[in-house]
Amino acid sequence: MLNGRKTLYSGMQATGTLTLGNYLGALKNWVNLNEEYECIYGVMDLHSLTVRQTPAEFRKNARSLYALYVAAGLDPEKNCIYYQSHVSGHAELSWILSCFTYMGELNRMTQFKDKSSRHADNINAGLYTYPVLMASDILLYQADLVPVGQDQKQHLEITRDIAQRFNALYGDVFTVPEAYIPKAGAKIMSLSDPQKKMSKSDENANATILLLDDRDSIIRKFKRAVTDSDTVVRYAEEKPGIRNLMDIYSCVTGKDYSAIEQEFEGRGYGEFKLAVGEAVADELSPLQKHYASLIEDKAYLDSMIKMNDEKAAYYAAKTLRKVQKKVGLTERIRA
Ligand code: TRP
Repeated sequence: MLNGRKTLYSGMQATGTLTLGNYLGALKNWVNLNEEYECIYGVMDLHSLTVRQTPAEFRKNARSLYALYVAAGLDPEKNCIYYQSHVSGHAELSWILSCFTYMGELNRMTQFKDKSSRHADNINAGLYTYPVLMASDILLYQADLVPVGQDQKQHLEITRDIAQRFNALYGDVFTVPEAYIPKAGAKIMSLSDPQKKMSKSDENANATILLLDDRDSIIRKFKRAVTDSDTVVRYAEEKPGIRNLMDIYSCVTGKDYSAIEQEFEGRGYGEFKLAVGEAVADELSPLQKHYASLIEDKAYLDSMIKMNDEKAAYYAAKTLRKVQKKVGLTERIRA
């Protein structure tokens, strides 16, 4: 709880530009949550260091993510949007919590196994303790709710285990967070292989819509989307490509499946794909315009970052001091 309201915490890694999947699956659903909750969103740049980054590009991507949060409709005056690396409490709590996390638990993390097989030349300790840092992010702010996708559920589980273990030893120090499942939102799949999640690291550029793609590229990619040999727009198990396009269309227009089926009755896939492409381009156009003006407005972005960094640091310090005291670290002498 923060300021008498439940606290919601989430964030994304600061790598590359976001995809339509990140937007429809997460970001778009975060907008307006601040009416009900105290919302804190991090630019998770410390987590991004677990894979090798090019410094200048990394810095640019992190700022771009900040601007995309705001451009997507997260008001930085109402939501605390800050850089993870600007609040040193994340790293400090992470060390302490790593002493309350078992190697056996970390060994079970499927994302670690996955990432270490994909980056076999750089299986660093940060990749291994990634979930401890994530637990620290969440617990530092005493978050009640954490919106996460399927791939992060296991990390939220370990966060809860760490919090409960710590609380059992030292009393109620941490709020034990729960997953927040948004009412709307969907898992968006690749346009070229609808069995696979849409991903910014896909080698096939046609598989992924990036949030900053221009209108023509968006429409072209949708025209090339893989479907099936049928011609009827219908939501069916055996039609994963059409289902994905219907999910996207539904997220963007708010229409349900049966309304979409009716709308495209007798019209074939070509027309449907074009309609989805246009709807997505229309949806992203205001976001892109807002982004373009934000990224030019250095003074505004800097002032928002500064204000929110300070706010986040204040919340974080409260928890960190409590934890340090509980575990028996000697308090600093204040003049
Ligand atoms: N690991 C998350 C992801 O890759 C990002 C993340 C880091 C996060 N810390 C978090 C998400 C805390 C929610 C809460 O998607």
